Amino acid sequence: MSEDQSISSAGSPARRFVASIRLGTPADAGAIAALHAESWRSAYRGLVPDDDLGEGLDAERLEFWHKRFATPDAERRVAFLAMSDHLLVGFACVLADADPGHGPLLDNLHVKPGWRGHGIGALLLHKARDWSRSIAPGQPMHLWVLEGNAPARRFYRNQGGVEVERRSEDRGGMTIAVWRCTWRE
Ligand SMILES: CC(C)(COP(=O)(O)OP(=O)(O)OC[C@H]1O[C@@H](n2cnc3c(N)ncnc32)[C@H](O)[C@@H]1OP(=O)(O)O)[C@@H](O)C(=O)NCCC(=O)NCCS
Repeated sequence: MSEDQSISSAGSPARRFVASIRLGTPADAGAIAALHAESWRSAYRGLVPDDDLGEGLDAERLEFWHKRFATPDAERRVAFLAMSDHLLVGFACVLADADPGHGPLLDNLHVKPGWRGHGIGALLLHKARDWSRSIAPGQPMHLWVLEGNAPARRFYRNQGGVEVERRSEDRGGMTIAVWRCTWRE
C-alpha cells in the first residue's frame, strides 16, 4: 500500500505535525523495535518492573519484530506505520488469530513521544479497525491495556472502546493488572 491518508496539525509555531500511513515490511523491523522500546520507556515507567525497561529491551524488541515479520500467514497480521517524511512516528499491529473467540487483537499501538496528542493514534486505530472488519467481519477488535496507563485508557474510551475484562499477574515484585478493551464492529 502506498501512502493513502494523512493528517496534519499545527504543533508549536516552529513545528508542524504531518503523518501519512503505509504498511510495514520486514525492512521496518529495526525502526519499529526502536520506537517500541522508546515508547515503553516513556509510558510504562512505574507500571512494569524496571527490568522490563532496562538495557536488554532494545535487543528484545528487535528480536520480537524480526520474528513477527518472519512468521508465516502474513496476510493474517498487519502493521500500519505512521510516517513523517522518512521518520517513523507511530505504529499499530493487528493479529487476526491471536485470541480466538475475541476477534482480532490490536497488539501494539504506539506514537513517538513528542508526536502524541495530534491525532496520529486515532488515525492508526481507525486503520486497525478497518482492517479488522475486513479480515474478521462481524467480530470485535480488542486489545489489552495496563490498568495504570490512564492516558491510553482515556484515549481508548474516547475512541469508543469498552473495558470488559480485568486480569492481573505478579511479576518482578509488582502486581500488573490489564484490561481487555473491545470495539464492536
Ligand atoms: C495512547 C496513544 C497511542 C494515543 O496516540 P495519540 O497520537 O497521542 O492520540 P491522539 O492524538 O489521536 O489522541 C490523543 C488525544 O489528543 C487529542 N487530539 C487529537 N488530535 C488533536 C489535535 N490535532 N490537537 C490537539 N489534541 C488532539 C484527542 O482528543 C485525544 O484526547 P483523549 O486522549 O482525551 O481522547 C499515544 O499517546 C501513545 O503512544 N502512548 C504511549 C504508549 C501507549 O500507552 N500505548 C498504548 C498501549 S495499550
